[in-house]
Parts: sequence; C-alpha cells; structure tokens
Amino acid sequence: MTRTSKLLTAAASLAIIAGLAACGAEKSKDTSSSADASDVIAKYKANPKFAGHIVGDKISGYVFASPETQAMQDDDFENPGMLAVQDGESEWAKVEGAAGKSCASCHGDAEKSMKGVSVSYPKYEPKLGKLASIEHRINLCRTEYMKAPALKWDSKPLLGLTSYVALQSRGMPVSVKVDGPAAPYFAKGKEFYYTRRGQMDIACAQCHEQNAGNSIGVENLSQGRSNGYPAYRLKWQSFGSLHRRFEGCNQEVRAQPYPRGSDEYTDLELFVAWRSNGLASEAPGVRR
Ligand code: HEC
Ligand code: HEC
Repeated sequence: MTRTSKLLTAAASLAIIAGLAACGAEKSKDTSSSADASDVIAKYKANPKFAGHIVGDKISGYVFASPETQAMQDDDFENPGMLAVQDGESEWAKVEGAAGKSCASCHGDAEKSMKGVSVSYPKYEPKLGKLASIEHRINLCRTEYMKAPALKWDSKPLLGLTSYVALQSRGMPVSVKVDGPAAPYFAKGKEFYYTRRGQMDIACAQCHEQNAGNSIGVENLSQGRSNGYPAYRLKWQSFGSLHRRFEGCNQEVRAQPYPRGSDEYTDLELFVAWRSNGLASEAPGVRR
C-alpha cells in the first residue's frame, strides 16, 4: 500500500467513526441507520442457525462474523485456536519451578477440575486483594504453589493454559458474579465502558450498544461480548487475549491503551463479561 492510499484509508475510517460518534450522540434524530441495524438484529434472531449463540437480546460476536469465519470456529480441525489448546495441554503436565510441581500435580484431570471455572472469571481473589482474570489466577498458582515465574500476558504458554482451561467450559454459560467483594470493581469497569475517550471522543457503548449491526468500514459491529475469547484473529494472524482486543478497540478511537493485565482492563473485563452472562462460552473463538 502506498503512503497516500494508507492516509486515505485512515481518513475514510476516521470519517466513519466520526459518523458513529454523531449517530451515538444524536440517536433520536438518526432514524435511518439505527432502523437498518435493528433489521439486521431481527434477522439474526430469526435464523435458527444462530440459536446457540443468542440469549434474549444478547448476541455473540460469532453471529456478526462471516460464514467463512464461523466455519473456521465450528471445525476443531480448522480452528487455529486449537493449537493454543494443545500448547496448554502440554503446559498443564509440565513440571516447572522450585516446588517441582505441574498444574496436574494438584489439579489432576483438567476436564474434571477445570470444568466451569473460566466462565466465572474475572473473580475477586482474596490472596491478591483485588479482582483477578483467569490469567492472574494461573500466574498466582505458578508463583505461590509452583515457585515458578509468572508468565507474560499473551505469551504462548499463558495463552495455551488460558485456552486449555477455557475449553473445559466450552458451551457453558458465562456466569460472573458482580456483587459482594466484586461490586466496586464492577462499578469501575462500568464507568470505563461508558466514558468517552481518545481523539475521537467515543465510548465503548457508542460502538457496541448503539451501533451493533451497523458496519464500520469492512467490519460488522457486534455487541462486543467476550464469550469468544481468547480467540484467533485473522487480522493478528495469531491467537490473543481479550485484553489485546481491548487495546485494539482503544486504538480504534485514537486513545492510549492500558497495559494488558492492568487493573483498568481487568475491571473492564468484568463489566464486559457481565454483559455476556448467559451466552455460551465459545473459546477458542475465531474472529476477523
Ligand atoms: C469505534 C468503534 C469501537 C469502539 C469505540 C470500541 N470497539 Fe470494540 N470492536 C470494534 C470493532 C470494529 C470490533 C470487531 C468487530 C466486532 O466484533 O464488533 C470490536 C470488537 C470488540 C470485542 C470482541 C467481540 C467478539 O465477539 O469478537 C469486544 C469484547 C470489544 N470490542 C469490546 C470493546 C470495549 C470494552 C470497548 C471500550 C474500551 C470497545 N470495544 C470500543 C469497534 C469498537
Ligand atoms: C501445589 C498445588 C497447585 C498447583 C501446582 C497449581 N495449583 Fe491451581 N490451585 C491450587 C489451589 C489450592 C487452588 C484453590 C485456591 C487457593 O487456595 O489458592 C487453586 C486454584 C486454581 C484456579 C482457580 C479455580 C477456581 O475455581 O476459581 C485455577 C484456574 C488454577 N488453580 C489453575 C492452575 C494452573 C493452570 C496451574 C499450573 C500452571 C496450577 N493451577 C497449579 C493449587 C495448585
């Protein structure tokens, strides 16, 4: 791509985003595009093919994906995320650290011990005194019980373990708790979601609540649910975490992203997971 055409593409996508911002701010005046979007949503809901991916008004990102992308996710032999699961399965059995233990030493068969675990995260973790993503919880077991170093966010072994643990909950409904000790973190995540940010001054909600079903350039805007993550993204040509996706969404509006694994993104993850409560976990998902 030449420099000029790159600039033109950037300008075009900025115009689309600016249009979205206006459409979000003046929703009541804008009847045309929101009417189109609700038609799109109604069509999805009426399609029996998507029954397992829709619960009430909640629609998985799967439904907004192209048929080719959906087919890749549906077939374990085509889904590149299954390679991450395989990495995780060998990590699970690998002895590491000064305590001479593997995950399996304590947790045995993951198919039994990890069933239903990932869909309950993020969760308040008393040992950390704050909210923990499943990645934080895995690293806590490494440092505290295995006496092994924490793994880097989005590193191959951590993505592997996260997806292997997540696979044991595939098809189970997302079910995070947002009351009790999780309540203050949920409130912070919610505030993040509705705060306008970046040069474009756009909040998460403006794209994923007010404009789901509309297209933004080549992308179809989904409701921004988290039940497909960790996921393989064609754009990345690799498997990645939800926090990596958040980073991309912040960059989309020219906002400074937070570090993956930061408190800000973990709190945001709880809010997004709560928005996804009830949807079946699809991890490892495949997305554009
Ligand atoms: C300018 C519009 C825009 C904004 C603002 C935005 N996103 Fe996104 N987001 C996208 C696009 C485009 C995609 C990819 C297509 C899709 O799933 O909507 C996406 C995807 C996602 C997904 C993955 C959905 C799936 O099933 O694959 C999540 C989760 C998400 N966004 C969360 C957020 C959060 C949280 C924020 C606020 C920090 C945010 N987004 C802000 C445009 C946006
Ligand atoms: C020495 C034993 C031990 C080892 C080794 C160990 N864990 Fe744990 N793990 C525990 C205990 C005990 C808990 C329950 C929480 C606690 O008391 O800290 C736990 C909790 C968890 C949880 C949260 C379960 C839930 O229901 O919320 C996950 C996920 C987990 N471990 C994954 C792993 C992974 C992945 C590994 C390997 C990298 C690992 N653990 C290694 C002992 C261990």
